[in-house]
Amino acid sequence: MTEQSGQGPALDNLSTESRVFPPSAAFTEAANVGESAYAEADADREAFWAEQASRLSWDTEWSQVLDWTNAPFAKWFVGGRLNVAVNCADRHVEAGHGERVAIHWVGEPGDSRTITYAELTREVCRTANALASLGLVAGDRVAIQMPMLPEAIFAMLACARLGLVHSVVFGGFSSAALRSRIDDAQARVLITSDGQYRRGKPAPMKDNTDEATAHTPSIEHVVVVRRTGSDVRWTEGRDLWWDELVGGQSDVHEAEAFDAEHPLFILYTSGTTGRPKGIQHTSGGYLTQAAYTHHAVFDLKPEQDVYWCTADIGWITGHTYIVYGPLANGATQVVYEGTPNTPHEGRHWEIIQQHGVTIYYTAPTLIRTFMKWGAEIPGRYDLTSLRVLGSVGEPINPEAWIWYRETIGAGSTPIVDTWWQTETGAIMISPLPGVTATKPGSAQRPLPGISAKVVNDAGVEVPHGSGGYLVLDQPWPSMLRGIWGDEERFRDTYWSRYAEQGFYFAGDGAKYDADGDVWLLGRVDDVMNVSGHRISTTEVESALVSHPTVAEAAVVGATDATTGQGIVAFVILRGSATADASTAKTLRDHVAAEIGPIAKPRQILVVNELPKTRSGKIMRRLLRDVAENREVGDTTTLADSTVMDLISSGLKSSA
Ligand code: WTA
Repeated sequence: MTEQSGQGPALDNLSTESRVFPPSAAFTEAANVGESAYAEADADREAFWAEQASRLSWDTEWSQVLDWTNAPFAKWFVGGRLNVAVNCADRHVEAGHGERVAIHWVGEPGDSRTITYAELTREVCRTANALASLGLVAGDRVAIQMPMLPEAIFAMLACARLGLVHSVVFGGFSSAALRSRIDDAQARVLITSDGQYRRGKPAPMKDNTDEATAHTPSIEHVVVVRRTGSDVRWTEGRDLWWDELVGGQSDVHEAEAFDAEHPLFILYTSGTTGRPKGIQHTSGGYLTQAAYTHHAVFDLKPEQDVYWCTADIGWITGHTYIVYGPLANGATQVVYEGTPNTPHEGRHWEIIQQHGVTIYYTAPTLIRTFMKWGAEIPGRYDLTSLRVLGSVGEPINPEAWIWYRETIGAGSTPIVDTWWQTETGAIMISPLPGVTATKPGSAQRPLPGISAKVVNDAGVEVPHGSGGYLVLDQPWPSMLRGIWGDEERFRDTYWSRYAEQGFYFAGDGAKYDADGDVWLLGRVDDVMNVSGHRISTTEVESALVSHPTVAEAAVVGATDATTGQGIVAFVILRGSATADASTAKTLRDHVAAEIGPIAKPRQILVVNELPKTRSGKIMRRLLRDVAENREVGDTTTLADSTVMDLISSGLKSSA
């Protein structure tokens, strides 16, 4: 398989990519899920999901699998009752796996903690007793803003245990963002920490939450985990130390079962307009799809595997693939607190080597960062334990995919490129590692039990070889049940575009290749229209990074009087490459050669950094401002707010 090792001069991009990597016979033979699952699910989708729901332990069996009569508000496993936390902790102990490690927690400064399922159960019970002692009752909302600490997971599961609805707010969000989320959900309690370790240094956390809670009348208590030991301001009566509140509680707690449709959490995500949307998820269907997809897509063998998802619990990936999916499946996993280059750029590989990680799930942006740092860094570590690699969050360009497979996966490890959203709750489109002959850059096929289509403006499915919009044309168990407090926005955002057909509009462009496999092309608003040709920013970026001198690229469509939009590319060159007078021409010609002259960037700007959100997404909006010579807009959600100044001043000085 290494004859196409990605070293050739003209590396393929999304348009011309044609490499295929079938799974090995040995992998297929031992895989959790085989080809027959698709046909089984197609024959009777509801029976298929009912079978998956029986992976969980229910107090009361459901009477109906799906009630879609009040679409788009779905009810799954109607009448069923379960406790989500019991499913993620206690039942594994009852099944005799109490001594299995649930969490290998790795702190950024080098401290660590090993938590078995028995211990997890006790911690969740203690935390649940503590929250109950504050007078919280089922249905109340609890906000959580915390770094990646075990207590964050205990807190989420304790909420689930009591039927409280958690709203986790990413640790890097500002106090204003936290405040608006607390207000929107009217949370009664906030759980946070004194500080957090970021890039080797303690940074305050409670200072930030104090600014928020100064203006949130709904908050009655702030529970504070001691992490950095830094001084904090204290509001007597309101603020409570976690160790004092939780430490003294009984580690036994009798859990109550809740309705399958009982709300489990709210998670805010940004939409096309300013105000974040509180995406609402419920219990039975969500946990069913979280558990099934984690089992199927990662081929998880709970007795043998050590799984690691590098997301933060502040995002949906952390909810579904750190907390609910893996713990429902009784997995052993690594949870890492810190940044990937602290104290050195080999930290992830060191952790994989130390814990014998077998399944590693990360984001393309990080893979490209690793590429930039150089293959010699992972080359210093033993990564042979790895057997499945996952990608999520954005389209992965074939270059990064091949690098991931070759450099991290020894040229043989299956890669699962998983497409899904905060709204979908769990993975929807992805290869299955024992079934799919994978294609670099394609998420390929809806999972068994899931239906997705690529349609045109009129809602008609496009033929193979063509592009359009991605829709989900059948309800799925972990689908969002609404936007908190805003039914109209829910209908408007997702269900109005194809109201007649009843499709969920995902907001992503996609195309079918000749085999009918799905290729995601980025958000619809990131698709450019140049002289009437629809060109994905991802396609051009992919072409650019396939050039040996380019480390990373971001492409935007800037308004152009002649062509509608013109393509403007921002590129970071690889360490050894330097920009000179011919760079732009070389890269333009390269893109023209890879995709076609219509995709040739109008302008190529060499920069040192790209503006990214704290979740690693490139903020094209800001680049569009630069490309269109406008004043740069709101930069408050940038991970590093100085990046835009650097880009702008760099451009001025080079102009
Ligand atoms: C994008 C993250 C291509 C997509 C789980 C989607 C992807 C948005 C992929 C949701 C993928 C996620 N290939 N694009 N494998 N995974 N996306 O809500 O545009 O943070 O609509 O959920 O990320 O982002 P969210």
